[in-house]
Amino acid sequence: MEKSIKRQMIEALAQAQGQFLSGQRLADLIGCSRTAIWKHIEELRKTGIKIEAVRKKGYRLIHLPDGLTENEILYGLETKVLGQHIIHLETTESTQLIAHQEAAKGAPEGTIVISEEQTRGKGRMAREWHSAKGKGIWMSLIIRPVLPLEKAPQFTLIAAIAVARAIEDVTGLEPEIKWPNDLLLNGKKMTGILTELQGEADQINYLVIGIGMNVNQAKDHFPKALQNKSTSLLIETGKEIHRKTLVQRILKNFEKYYAIYIEKGFTPLKIIWEDYAISIGKTVTAQTKGESITGIAEGITDEGVLMVRDQNGKLHFIYSADLHIHL
Ligand code: BTN
Repeated sequence: MEKSIKRQMIEALAQAQGQFLSGQRLADLIGCSRTAIWKHIEELRKTGIKIEAVRKKGYRLIHLPDGLTENEILYGLETKVLGQHIIHLETTESTQLIAHQEAAKGAPEGTIVISEEQTRGKGRMAREWHSAKGKGIWMSLIIRPVLPLEKAPQFTLIAAIAVARAIEDVTGLEPEIKWPNDLLLNGKKMTGILTELQGEADQINYLVIGIGMNVNQAKDHFPKALQNKSTSLLIETGKEIHRKTLVQRILKNFEKYYAIYIEKGFTPLKIIWEDYAISIGKTVTAQTKGESITGIAEGITDEGVLMVRDQNGKLHFIYSADLHIHL
């Protein structure tokens, strides 16, 4: 995808590391007029980016805020495809809904929809996902793998390891994954993943992978009912974490694991997933729509399906459930 003028300008200014770049130099680098440069500088300033302008010297970058706008995420993003097209919203009902609309209109693979706030965030099993304004990452990623429908649930697991690694990379904390889609810190939920599918005949048309990550909430930002079950990176580290850095890292990791998946299949990723999983080897109760199965979680299949062996030695294959881990 061709880089926009604004993105090239931010990159050039950031690379100058606080030195001035003349309007002419910027115009030459990017291949546009000086008037265009000046116009774009004004627009960048409106997004909260601080650029100093001094006559005869030119422009220099003073401050890039930790926002999640397109330009902010794009600057420093180390991916080829994922996140190269960004829809940033101040508020929306659910980024999943917007992502489905955009995907149906033909949004390219790797498009992300990210919002500062969701007024009706969607969780699994028709639950609501609490999405406090400016405090977390509420993001939906569109991908278009050419695969049969039954492969879709594997992408929840791929997303989970991409997010887990990103948290480790950025904070040093080691999250645990509770099958299939919860990331926990100290036993409390910090991230949830919701994979939705649009397919035809037997093939995936597109996937919308929703990632909800609690980043900078203090305890009282959560509703009372969630305060003992949920946590955030701020609560766990005592520090505010740049959401932008996490988004960039998630996308980078996801792109890496996605490429491995396409080339080698799920098996190498399953090993990484199992490394993070807390349920494996433990007694669990899987609550599915129709029944409740208790037994030892033996692992996941190559398709990402959970295997639970009950007291009578019968092996159950669990495709979708709420999981309770007995401690
Ligand atoms: C769960 O654990 O139940 C899944 C939660 C998924 C929440 C994310 S936030 C971004 C995206 N938009 C939504 O409405 N839901 C997902």
